[in-house]
Amino acid sequence: MKTRWTIMAVAMTLVVGAFWASEVAAQKTKGKSRAASTKQLMKGIVQPNCAGCGGALKTGPADDAAWETLATQAAVLNELSYVLMDDGRCPDGVWAGATKQLREGTAAVLEAVGKKDVEAARAAFKTATGSCAACHKAHKT
Ligand code: HEC
Repeated sequence: MKTRWTIMAVAMTLVVGAFWASEVAAQKTKGKSRAASTKQLMKGIVQPNCAGCGGALKTGPADDAAWETLATQAAVLNELSYVLMDDGRCPDGVWAGATKQLREGTAAVLEAVGKKDVEAARAAFKTATGSCAACHKAHKT
């Protein structure tokens, strides 16, 4: 009788553990209730805005309109750092740390844009893109 209870307890632990593991895995690719998958956020928002910032900073924004576009792209990426933490999407500290780096890097880009300081914007953008590699290394399959 005692053995049977032990087997039951072990079985229950395994079932709960497997369920928990699948929940954690699911969080990376999609939040709990919102429709957008992580892949769609990356492809539709993160990637194009990141490429836009990178392109503008290669030569430096040519005129006021280009500075404004750069600010918009950095601001959208900054906002995404919050979105990626929402809806139970964040699985661990590596993810949370990467979003913080994205947030701080893009905030610093915005600050540099305010001063039209290309060098400072480039350095800040490097911090921001460091977050892509940090999160992908741990969480992108
Ligand atoms: C907090 C984590 C995190 C951060 C930060 C992050 N990504 Fe991602 N990214 C992911 C995950 C997870 C995937 C894989 C999604 C999937 O395939 O389900 C992904 C996938 C991608 C993809 C592939 C999309 C496809 O077509 O399969 C691109 C492109 C991408 N990220 C760009 C970026 C760029 C550029 C940055 C930095 C500005 C960035 N990501 C920052 C988590 C992150």
